[in-house]
Amino acid sequence: MAGVLAAGWSLPADAETPVERGRYLVESIAGCGNCHSLQDANGPIPGKEYAGGPPIQDAAFDAWPANITPDEETGIGSWTDDEIVRAIREGVTRDGRVMGPPMPFWLYRGIADDDAKAMVAYLRTVKPVKNKVPASVYRMPLPPSWGPAVSGVEAPPRSDKVAYGGYLAGPVGHCVECHTPMTDKGGLDMAREGAGTREFPGPWGTSISRNITPAALGDWTDAEIKRAITQGVSRDGTRLMPPMGFGFYARMTDADLDALVAWMRSLKPVD
Ligand code: HEC
Ligand code: HEC
Repeated sequence: MAGVLAAGWSLPADAETPVERGRYLVESIAGCGNCHSLQDANGPIPGKEYAGGPPIQDAAFDAWPANITPDEETGIGSWTDDEIVRAIREGVTRDGRVMGPPMPFWLYRGIADDDAKAMVAYLRTVKPVKNKVPASVYRMPLPPSWGPAVSGVEAPPRSDKVAYGGYLAGPVGHCVECHTPMTDKGGLDMAREGAGTREFPGPWGTSISRNITPAALGDWTDAEIKRAITQGVSRDGTRLMPPMGFGFYARMTDADLDALVAWMRSLKPVD
């Protein structure tokens, strides 16, 4: 196994048990804790992982990332596996409410059945934390649903690096969401996939997602791209700001990083 061990541990992406696979996905490429955990400069605050994150606020919403620990009262401990999988991929809560952004349901619909189940298996093993999270407020119309019920989704074969990298960058890791400009209607401008320019205000100031198409990264080495993703250090040595989730991505295996780089290099160059 050739993992990047910066954060102290790493697991093979093809780890055998669902709990190990789920841990790998949730704690690395999917970075669920980037929203669902309170963080300080060192990452998620120990002992409170997944107990609910700080509100994500916008003109259109005050979204409160839920407590997704197994606490029965304030978390998801009493939900069934299917209910949790449905929440992740279809954006529907246990009581049938359609959730709003920014959890990227339209991408999470593409998480493979096995991977979604593995994520749930792992979430069942995290420490239950009692923490009642306020209800999100949306000052925007929400869709009646994010689409039909999801089932029978399979991941592309890992031997197809570009396709598997696209699976990691889209459905699992939502890199595309942050790194693709918005249209004036509020959707993503997929003709300019990967071109960056989205603004992310936060305690760090305002960061702007960068162009990750070959127009920008074309002459970077693979190692330079991987360093940016996993250590948050740009090619010129400057430090990258949140919400780019390098603390999570540091735990990715080299094979998955290779697939991500192959996907980035396959994008249409956009200036
Ligand atoms: C960009 C931020 C963001 C990311 C990334 C994110 N979530 Fe969420 N999640 C939220 C918000 C906000 C809510 C609450 C939405 C609402 O109440 O309408 C939520 C709700 C949920 C719920 C419903 C829980 C409940 O009690 O209603 C589950 C389950 C969940 N998320 C799991 C996950 C998992 C697993 C991942 C990683 C694969 C993930 N989330 C990634 C922001 C995020
Ligand atoms: C929540 C939003 C978000 C997600 C998810 C995200 N990024 Fe980023 N990314 C950013 C922002 C913002 C920056 C720029 C930070 C800065 O300028 O300090 C950035 C910077 C980068 C850079 C550095 C480019 C340069 O010129 O230095 C690379 C490479 C990158 N991201 C790749 C990825 C990949 C691959 C993924 C998925 C595994 C990903 N990002 C997921 C927001 C995000």
